[in-house]
Amino acid sequence: MKPQKRQSSGISKCFHRIFQSIFPDPLIPKSEQERKRYLLKNLILHFRPATVPEKTLKFSLTWGLGGMAASLIILQFGTGLLLKFVYKPIPVAAYTSIQVLQNEVMFGQLIRNIHHWCANFLVLIVFLHMLRVFFTGAFHPPRQFNWIVGLGLFGLVLTANFTGYLLPYDQLAYWAVTVSTGVLEYIPGIGVLLQEMVRGGSDIGPATLSIFFAIHTAMVPFGLIILMSFHFWRTRKAGGLVIPRAPQEEIKEKPIRVPTLPNLLVREIVTAIVLLAFILVFAMVFNAPLESKANPGLSPNPTKAPWYFSGIQEMLMHFHPFFSLFIIPILMMIALLCLPYIDYESNTSGVWFGSFKGRKMALVAAITATIATPAGILADEYMIDLAAWMQGVPPSISNGLIPFMIILVGIIGFYVLIKRKYSATNNEAIQTLFVLFLVSFIILTVTGVWFRGIGMKFVLPF
Ligand code: HEM
Repeated sequence: MKPQKRQSSGISKCFHRIFQSIFPDPLIPKSEQERKRYLLKNLILHFRPATVPEKTLKFSLTWGLGGMAASLIILQFGTGLLLKFVYKPIPVAAYTSIQVLQNEVMFGQLIRNIHHWCANFLVLIVFLHMLRVFFTGAFHPPRQFNWIVGLGLFGLVLTANFTGYLLPYDQLAYWAVTVSTGVLEYIPGIGVLLQEMVRGGSDIGPATLSIFFAIHTAMVPFGLIILMSFHFWRTRKAGGLVIPRAPQEEIKEKPIRVPTLPNLLVREIVTAIVLLAFILVFAMVFNAPLESKANPGLSPNPTKAPWYFSGIQEMLMHFHPFFSLFIIPILMMIALLCLPYIDYESNTSGVWFGSFKGRKMALVAAITATIATPAGILADEYMIDLAAWMQGVPPSISNGLIPFMIILVGIIGFYVLIKRKYSATNNEAIQTLFVLFLVSFIILTVTGVWFRGIGMKFVLPF
């Protein structure tokens, strides 16, 4: 189909003119320079669709988050490659090689800082991208499988972060990984075996470092390249992004499309440059942490998991490990995987929060979680002691099954109540539950990061 012309503003005309001077239009290139530009334009169009729906260019649809995630991954590949020239993946040399990198290699500290902060921002940005996809209903057909691919990417980003965490081999790294892998043994049947596989033995040591290094520098990058290519291809096959629309507005069969060059590309480049500038300044101001060399005989107090696992570590404070580390995370994962395949009444793709009622219900869920989660944490901390009240009952029941069932009944009650009160559709009710879990998980994470002190006791952060 022939792309339709769009009314352009002053700024986009200006961008267009700059772009035209770099990639001129004539189909038959005249000079050598023109021929090169023509080839470059063609090359870009091998990776990007020739046209995109005009409305998807709106920044408030995507907030540039997917593109930012891709830019950060490219930056991680670049800085990671440079780090490999100096880093030594054996316990006796790993820590010293990081010190050498920071103190003796030109820009070594800066490159490490960029790699470190980028990794952390990446988790945050991918998480926000997932939320934007969810709240604009972009997981409905034909994009349902891309949601699954996205979850795979999220898993890889977390794996990259976690395996990278051990590499400096300082106290922080050693003990965070000890705690995080230590809990694997609670998985019934295969727990101990799994832990030994991950650690390469019963303790953290040379084999663990070598396994983490291989996963971090070979397997995860390979997986990311494959899944990212597939992710972009699926987005393209779906005809581009979801088209933003008002709650009652119909999905348009044939949206107005505009050429990718320069409309989308210029926006992507500008977003990437602003992001990279921000990361650079951040990395110049804040150094990546490096504590004293790992000492297997002396554990710091408190020993905390990396911040993105803090929510799970906080759950561990309230539930038996079998529930906090196994049952609840597995149920959450299954729920996320099944999300696009549930029978919905309508396809809300492109509508933020699905409907006006959906927005209102999401707000109710957010307020409920903001009150109930801290109340539950404090009650468990200072008032409730199920294990002491039910002496003789196995902890997996008194501290696991019973509190789990109480919370489950509460959640089901909330779901039924809200569905009836608002005569909600499936879409609205499921979104409400999602917000309830999301806000609770964020509060658990914040509590784990800032409100836990010596002996993991509840403390105020100031
Ligand atoms: C490494 C991680 C990821 C990268 C680099 C990435 C990249 C992108 C990019 C560039 C887009 C198109 C532009 C945009 O939406 O901003 C996109 C769209 C999409 N992503 Fe991701 N993504 C990642 C993770 C995820 C996750 C965790 C999910 C969900 C579980 C997800 C689901 C989707 C879906 C369904 C679309 C299509 C959205 C639409 O049509 O509006 N992605 N992704």
